[in-house]
Amino acid sequence: MSNRGNFSSRIGFILAAAGSAVGLGNIWRFPFLAGTNGGAGFLFIYLICIATLCVPVMIGEIAIGRRALSDAYGSYNKLGGGKWGYLGLYGILAGVFILSYYNVVAGWAFGYFIEISFGNLLNHQDFGSFFGEYVNQIGPLFLFSLGFMVMTAVIVSQGIAKGIEAANKIMMPGLYLILIGIIIYSLTLPNAGAGVNFYLVPQLNEITSKTIFYALCQAFFSLSLGMGCLITYGSYVTKDQNIVKSAAIISIADTSVAFLAGLMVFPLVFSLGAEPGQGPKLIFVILTQAFQQMGPLTGRIVGGAFFLLICFAALTSTISLLEVPVAFLVDQKKLPRKVVVWSMSGIIFLLGLPSMFSQGIVPFLNKLPIHNTPDMLSLISDLCDIALVSGGCLMTIFIRNRWKIENLHEELSIGNPGYMGSWLKSYIHYTIMYICPVLLGIMSVLVITDKFFGLEWLWG
Ligand code: TRP
Repeated sequence: MSNRGNFSSRIGFILAAAGSAVGLGNIWRFPFLAGTNGGAGFLFIYLICIATLCVPVMIGEIAIGRRALSDAYGSYNKLGGGKWGYLGLYGILAGVFILSYYNVVAGWAFGYFIEISFGNLLNHQDFGSFFGEYVNQIGPLFLFSLGFMVMTAVIVSQGIAKGIEAANKIMMPGLYLILIGIIIYSLTLPNAGAGVNFYLVPQLNEITSKTIFYALCQAFFSLSLGMGCLITYGSYVTKDQNIVKSAAIISIADTSVAFLAGLMVFPLVFSLGAEPGQGPKLIFVILTQAFQQMGPLTGRIVGGAFFLLICFAALTSTISLLEVPVAFLVDQKKLPRKVVVWSMSGIIFLLGLPSMFSQGIVPFLNKLPIHNTPDMLSLISDLCDIALVSGGCLMTIFIRNRWKIENLHEELSIGNPGYMGSWLKSYIHYTIMYICPVLLGIMSVLVITDKFFGLEWLWG
């Protein structure tokens, strides 16, 4: 066990887990999902999901990892035995597929950073069609996402303390600063108020079944839950750390970045007279338009810095995604870390090619005959969302029926002397024993049904 590595400090773990959580999910996916699913209503449901379902799942995952000191597969196997290891494998597989398409989107962001800083992207007139053309060029796409994968591999091959912690310490503060800067700018624009209204004043009658499904999946995705990522990181956490408190800090950091991203995007959308429900291209279109309005030099500097910081945020997430299969192969198969890192990265990059080509390059890949899921990238992302929610559900069933809740409480009281008598213990007890397994179970079934057959008839 001694050579597995540990986070060097409490703050190191929190930064790494928050770095995993904060990524494209917060800045790219959260705003566009909020934009297509009712704005404030989406935010409202999202926050409820975080507090009632996600925080307990996060605490459970970290505790499992720290108790078992192993990767996702090894942890379930050690604490549960029998077939429980398969639950770990299910998560690892989900992580591999998430990384395959995540890396493609990271390549778009990396490309935008280059095009804004060193090219003349901001001289364009129609940023919507620019985006459409951009994601259809094989050369740059291939190059930028390959570049991204290589950066991820280089950092992960350095091991836990050196690579992952160091990357996070630079990125987080910078990201907050630039978000707040752009928010201040966007709030001064004409008609910004309409955007604030759309984002912060819920119209309860606009909440549909879709709002709830997407908000729940997004909450899992954004907090990196349900696939053993935090089990893996939890296995590098030392016994003197307070898991409940760390989980609270990580969740607040992640949720605040998503919240700020929305607060940045929607005033811009409304002041530019644009459409909030334009899907995955939303931030690429809206922000470039805003950077253009800032003037040639300022736009280039702010825009370049913004996309660079998104790349950092994405990088700390891809690192955590790659770490999951790598830890599994290193722990279980005793393979050398470097070999595993480079071969996994290669495989995952290849797995991402269909997603990369699904935006128009290969026409078949964006006309899939599946309800609501026109292209390969969306299909894989939907399947992964389902895996996360159902994986979270099974994890809570694992705790209540196999590992036993008393063991969870015991693990959580290590590094947290007051835990046993606290209200937090009751909150974790009831959510893990009843609320999460039941609600996440029901939601998994409904989300599957909705994504593939459509459930609009049910509610909205
Ligand atoms: N949470 C990250 C984001 O918001 C993505 C991510 C990293 C992730 N690790 C994960 C998602 C594990 C699900 C599971 O961008």
